[in-house]
Amino acid sequence: MSKTSIISLRKIKKIYKLGEREIEVLKDINLEVEKGEFLAIMGVSGSGKSTLLNIIGLMDKPTEGEYFLMGRKIAHLDDDHLSELRNAYVGFVFQQFYLIEYLNALENVVLPLLYSHKSVSHLQKKALNLLEKVGLKERYKSKPSQLSGGEQQRVAIARALINEPEIILADEPTGQLDTETALEIMDIFSKLNAEGKTVVMVTHDPNMAAKAKRITKMKDGRIVD
Ligand SMILES: Nc1ncnc2c1ncn2[C@@H]1O[C@H](COP(=O)(O)OP(=O)(O)OP(=O)(O)O)[C@@H](O)[C@H]1O
Ligand SMILES: [Mg+2]
Repeated sequence: MSKTSIISLRKIKKIYKLGEREIEVLKDINLEVEKGEFLAIMGVSGSGKSTLLNIIGLMDKPTEGEYFLMGRKIAHLDDDHLSELRNAYVGFVFQQFYLIEYLNALENVVLPLLYSHKSVSHLQKKALNLLEKVGLKERYKSKPSQLSGGEQQRVAIARALINEPEIILADEPTGQLDTETALEIMDIFSKLNAEGKTVVMVTHDPNMAAKAKRITKMKDGRIVD
């Protein structure tokens, strides 16, 4: 593990059991991500990209291998400890925004910290600042159904930032957006990266991957370059 690796995966395997059958979805993955990197993970459907991202984000556990997040070995940690680390260090952005329909943009952004012990007015102010950062401050009262796809993804990015995570993980964040809107979303990730966030993004789209600083390709559960 190099000194500045924020994410370090060694010989990671993931095996899913389907009845009697075992499928090896990740095979011997070695990956180092340095602090402040902007990495794109590419590969065809089914190559294991989301599985890998979910392991990086502590949403899933590898079957074999070692994972160090910010220098900390995570293999032996229990679920409570894993969610604690996830909440502290990781912000997730997904293709299907996953906003709560009956909450407005501001409330959606605050949601991850709603049960923290922080004051509501402090959280609202913070959420409003984040909405401003993603260019959506005036729409803070809008519900998801009143927002375009690109605007909903901006809300989702603001929500991912409310914990001030070191690492942003994005799984096909532009998959539902037209090219122009997708590039606007990529600009936000680039800006966050320029501010020091480590960004790891999964994408099919070479035009979006080109916005990252490094591209790694997966094929059939392995990293191939
Ligand atoms: N919970 C699960 N149980 C069994 N198999 C699974 C499970 N999750 C994923 N898989 C299988 O693992 C393989 C990799 O899936 P994964 O979602 O990581 O691919 P992906 O590269 O993200 O694909 P896509 O580009 O379509 O999103 C697929 O063959 C999938 O069917
Ligand atoms: Mg996927």
